[in-house]
Amino acid sequence: MRSLILIAALLGVSLPAVASQGEYLARVGDCTACHTSADGAFMAGGVAFDTPLGKIYSTNITPDKENGIGAYTFEDFDRAMRQGIGREGQALYPAMPYTSYARLTEVDMRGLYDYFMKEVQPQPVANRDNDIPWPLSMRWPLRIWQWLFHDTDEYVANTDKSAAYNRGAYLVQGLGHCGACHTPRGWAMQELAMDEGDERYLAGAELDGWYASDLRSLNIEAAELQSLMRTGRSKDFSVSGPMADVISHSSQYFTQEDLTGLAEYLLANSRVPKSARASAPPTEPDPQAQRLYASYCSVCHGNEGQGVDYVVPALVGNPTVISDNPSSLLQVLLKGSHSPRTLEHMGYAMPGYGWTLDDGQLAGLANYLRSQWGNQATRVNAGEVASLRSTQRAH
Ligand code: HEC
Ligand code: HEC
Ligand code: HEC
Repeated sequence: MRSLILIAALLGVSLPAVASQGEYLARVGDCTACHTSADGAFMAGGVAFDTPLGKIYSTNITPDKENGIGAYTFEDFDRAMRQGIGREGQALYPAMPYTSYARLTEVDMRGLYDYFMKEVQPQPVANRDNDIPWPLSMRWPLRIWQWLFHDTDEYVANTDKSAAYNRGAYLVQGLGHCGACHTPRGWAMQELAMDEGDERYLAGAELDGWYASDLRSLNIEAAELQSLMRTGRSKDFSVSGPMADVISHSSQYFTQEDLTGLAEYLLANSRVPKSARASAPPTEPDPQAQRLYASYCSVCHGNEGQGVDYVVPALVGNPTVISDNPSSLLQVLLKGSHSPRTLEHMGYAMPGYGWTLDDGQLAGLANYLRSQWGNQATRVNAGEVASLRSTQRAH
């Protein structure tokens, strides 16, 4: 076995890390991210989600007959996944991304069902009651929400496009539920668009103090995008916030075919890259920020922000650095960066500076990165750093 792994490593191929097609589908859908709590049993639920009305908890989806979904027929499961209706007829909160899972084919839905029924261990863990007071706890308004905003149709292939493009679209819009984080939401928390026909789809959204990047202006080669999804690292960039969990639980397991499709779909729908857009002329470096960069950062990121391939990300042209929304950049400066540990990447780390640099210094540093070496992005102010810092304390 050892030599097999060695040979696989030398050939640059990865050994199949998942046992069955159903398990693969569950990985792509990242069910465990929401249905396995930090110290709880696999898929036994209990993960808290904040909604405007109060906290709700994910449910036990192991095949336990009493507490889980063991009594669900395939039709019950399909209805929950596609329509957001539970076995007792109750409407489910859209924290469960059935708005995306509705796109699944019946074959994949059956594959998932079989996996949960036959391969997941039943767990006798009771569901937690939601912390929403009556009358807000009534679920009928969710039916109205679903009627207004939820489209239950399966994915329809775009016949003008290649098979790879369609595979990518199916994964991104469906099981991968990328839009749940990357698409901005409207007044009722609905995703503003569900496919590429609308330019708001995947156009970036605020998420727990991070910014789920704009995936409609990716400026990256297909192979590098695949590497980012598989390892959390590309040659020049890294991923460290909520996306790091998506990669370690889910996208690191994507097959090469699925990664190819995903990159083809995303890049085909990317607009003019940000660096090609006109913006304010570069400013003179602020001497204080320049000194901070030289004493705290340049040892790793280099004097010109060039980084070290595959180890230390470049800051030049870095989407985290130049994003219109600076939240993820400020999070990294405050808390540091930890790319995910995956089969192919050990995960490096960068310390945070929130404990030693004040809001003004961090804003200065952010503006320095956003205006040097050809980077051009809007200015950040100390108030934005202060507000992210306070949301971190509240957690
Ligand atoms: C982003 C978080 C999230 C993800 C990802 C997610 N779920 Fe859920 N799921 C929830 C929440 C929250 C609920 C409870 C909703 C409610 O009570 O209204 C739920 C409820 C369910 C239910 C209804 C269970 C019941 O007790 O009636 C099923 C079935 C289910 N999920 C299956 C899945 C499967 C299968 C996957 C992966 C393909 C998955 N979920 C992925 C958050 C998620
Ligand atoms: C749980 C929320 C969540 C989900 C689901 C999610 N993402 Fe992300 N993603 C983020 C956040 C937040 C960031 C940016 C900050 C970070 O985490 O590093 C990000 C960053 C990225 C980046 C890096 C972009 C850049 O400019 O460097 C790519 C590419 C990406 N996501 C693609 C995807 C794809 C494709 C999917 C679906 C398969 C997906 N994401 C699903 C939250 C999510
Ligand atoms: C000890 C080496 C080291 C130092 C010092 C350091 N960094 Fe980093 N930095 C890294 C590494 C490594 C990563 C990628 C982390 C990972 O893979 O998890 C990173 C990530 C980043 C990112 C996110 C990049 C992306 O692609 O999303 C930014 C922005 C950043 N660093 C800026 C800074 C700034 C500004 C300083 C000084 C205040 C600094 N770093 C100091 C090593 C360092």
